[in-house]
Amino acid sequence: MHKYASLNVNWMFKEGFEESDLTDTGCGGVPVNVPHTVKEIPYDCFDQTMTCMISVYSRSFSLPSLDGKRVLVLFEGVSACYDLYVNGKSVGSHKGAYSMALFDITEYVSPGENRMLLRVDSNERNDIPPNGSTVDFLIYGGIYRDVTLYVQEETYLKHVLFRYDLKGDQATVCPELLIGHHGPDRQLIVVTSLYKDGTWIWENRQLIQVTEEKHSISLHPAQIERVQRWEPEDPQLYQVCVRLEDENGHEVDSECCQAGFRTIRADADGFWLNDRRIKLIGLNRHQSFPYVGYAMGRRAQEKDARLLKQFMGLNIVRCSHYMQSRYFLDECDRLGLMVFEEIPGWGYIGGEEFQRVVFQDLENMVLGHFNHPSIVIWGTRLNETADDDELYRETNRRCKEMDGSRPTTGARWQTGSHLLEDIYSYNDYSEDQNGEHMLMTAHQATESRERLPYLVSEHTGAVLPTRPSDPEERQEEFAIRHARALSKLLTGDEYMGGFGWCMFDYNTHNDHNSMDKVCYHGVLDMFRVPKWAAWLYASQKSPQDEVVLVPCSMVGRGERCEPVPFYVLTNCDYIEVTLSTDRTRTYYPSVKFPGLSHPPIEVTENGEFWQRRWTGAKIAGYVDGKLAAERIYSGNPRLAGLRAEVDDPVIYNDVVDETRIVCTFEDENGNRACHHRGIVSVSVSGSIEMIGPSLIPTMGGCAAFWVRSRADGKEGEAVVRISTPREEIDDVYIPLRLEKAPEEW
Ligand code: GAL
Repeated sequence: MHKYASLNVNWMFKEGFEESDLTDTGCGGVPVNVPHTVKEIPYDCFDQTMTCMISVYSRSFSLPSLDGKRVLVLFEGVSACYDLYVNGKSVGSHKGAYSMALFDITEYVSPGENRMLLRVDSNERNDIPPNGSTVDFLIYGGIYRDVTLYVQEETYLKHVLFRYDLKGDQATVCPELLIGHHGPDRQLIVVTSLYKDGTWIWENRQLIQVTEEKHSISLHPAQIERVQRWEPEDPQLYQVCVRLEDENGHEVDSECCQAGFRTIRADADGFWLNDRRIKLIGLNRHQSFPYVGYAMGRRAQEKDARLLKQFMGLNIVRCSHYMQSRYFLDECDRLGLMVFEEIPGWGYIGGEEFQRVVFQDLENMVLGHFNHPSIVIWGTRLNETADDDELYRETNRRCKEMDGSRPTTGARWQTGSHLLEDIYSYNDYSEDQNGEHMLMTAHQATESRERLPYLVSEHTGAVLPTRPSDPEERQEEFAIRHARALSKLLTGDEYMGGFGWCMFDYNTHNDHNSMDKVCYHGVLDMFRVPKWAAWLYASQKSPQDEVVLVPCSMVGRGERCEPVPFYVLTNCDYIEVTLSTDRTRTYYPSVKFPGLSHPPIEVTENGEFWQRRWTGAKIAGYVDGKLAAERIYSGNPRLAGLRAEVDDPVIYNDVVDETRIVCTFEDENGNRACHHRGIVSVSVSGSIEMIGPSLIPTMGGCAAFWVRSRADGKEGEAVVRISTPREEIDDVYIPLRLEKAPEEW
């Protein structure tokens, strides 16, 4: 389909709904842009029903003369259900906070000015998954993903499913076209073209017959020689464009998508991508952000994918527990980050209407995200629900019918649950009291004598919630438990892989793991600032990619009166440590984590003794016998600076765009002052605004925040000013450039 206009900016929003809003163009409210949340929430300790409400979004839009054209509007994500009205008339409704919906509004519009209104219900209704019981995350509310208007010919391509079969480097492609057609039957030519890095490489032409009744047309198989495969280390991507032409060669419609060629197999011996066995190592990701919940745009979604793949070196992510933004998935495609995506659900299966929405979610997920090469597993169960063989046989059957190319699974909390899918996935939080021994065996989890394809869909985080401001020992233990679980996953042949719980801290209900509505299970905090556990993952990368040398300590007599023991998370071959006046000692990777490429190094010796003056410390890491990284600690550390880093100094201002700024208080040697109880005060000038409050207390020595463009189209400079109450720290000014978004954004 051809985008006629983005409808992301210039909405009016108000809480509550009255019948008169449908016709009253001046029904009030405040101007807002999408992505939007019905209410911003504080970081913690808020009323968990704050975003539960009925609200109204309204917007006018203008149309050209239509001449038999169709007008459609696509909502990619509105939480949690809504009724759509156009020019006061009811068009339809949609249930589901994570699914998209396309409405044909042709009958309701006319050339010139029109008005659409959405009555949004963001109450936690038990007919819409994942709600029903209490859920360990928030569903928020509002129009939080893109809204797009399309003006089409009477025949249009709703979607292309790029189906293929791969043998060696030969692909047999048989795209399926999902078509909308209004009017008499007609013949059209379909031209399917393949591009690699912008260069045309292949084309196929076929004749099709479109009718009002036929919603899907499968093209005849065609062959493409010498395709390059999509591999996690080398994610070769293609662009597929499908064009519908009439008998005169005029374009009727076209649709392009990103595609990649790869094969997938999952069996008791493991997970195979392109016939190569890969151990799946990843984390679970929610899609929430501080204050605005789900309402964050493209840049923030992409950045999360990069943190997982490039910073933490993971090869897979589980989209817990629902379908996520296409911007996130597109970036996973580009990065080679594999994805396990699942339908919305959490511990509850509702009645008939709830299950209707489950099937609708399933179709939305599988067909909507079909072309992403990064998606390698579909989750067809609702997370951690009891066995319901009738329902899950059906979700699995429908999923296979739509897509036979990917294995299916579903995350359980029960051992010995029925395996109706290809992979038995289990959320394994078992460990002995000290967390020394983690994870069950596959036989224990499946209660099967037979060896089944077995995946750990969650592990670790939930048993030791850890705040960035917690004592060093707690934070270190959190990192080390991830190391133990990872080591076990990597040594045990029975594990296809595993996903740590979870990527970052998130807001939740009072019923779950939290006294302040924040679940501190993340390896990153809510602002995506790494805890030591994140560095544990990062330290498994090759030092060629990035040398990591992060002690799980501020290194000093500190909290324990003794400087040792502590672990250093590093990918160096060995480290040399000098603690105060003690001699320099060399330490090597610990033997306690045999599965890890780079086990943490334990610093154990204390040649120091209490009552002598602590003069500081030095830790030096060596790779291939050469000094690769060094950390210096002073005998009298003090606050010396505020390092403020911006993720992207250029953002777009004709759309809503965000960038993050991380402020780190540092000592005179550039070490993060983890124990500093600080605060930053932020002010902005230019066409940007802060997301969240402008006074931000530090957590573990850091204060981070996002700023967002106002989407008023103004180009030029904006400035973020950061000050602190500490006299020795100068104010920091961060310039940002505001530009027009490129065409494809
Ligand atoms: C699991 C659940 C996750 C999260 C985790 C931590 O049982 O699947 O969504 O709640 O526990 O508490």
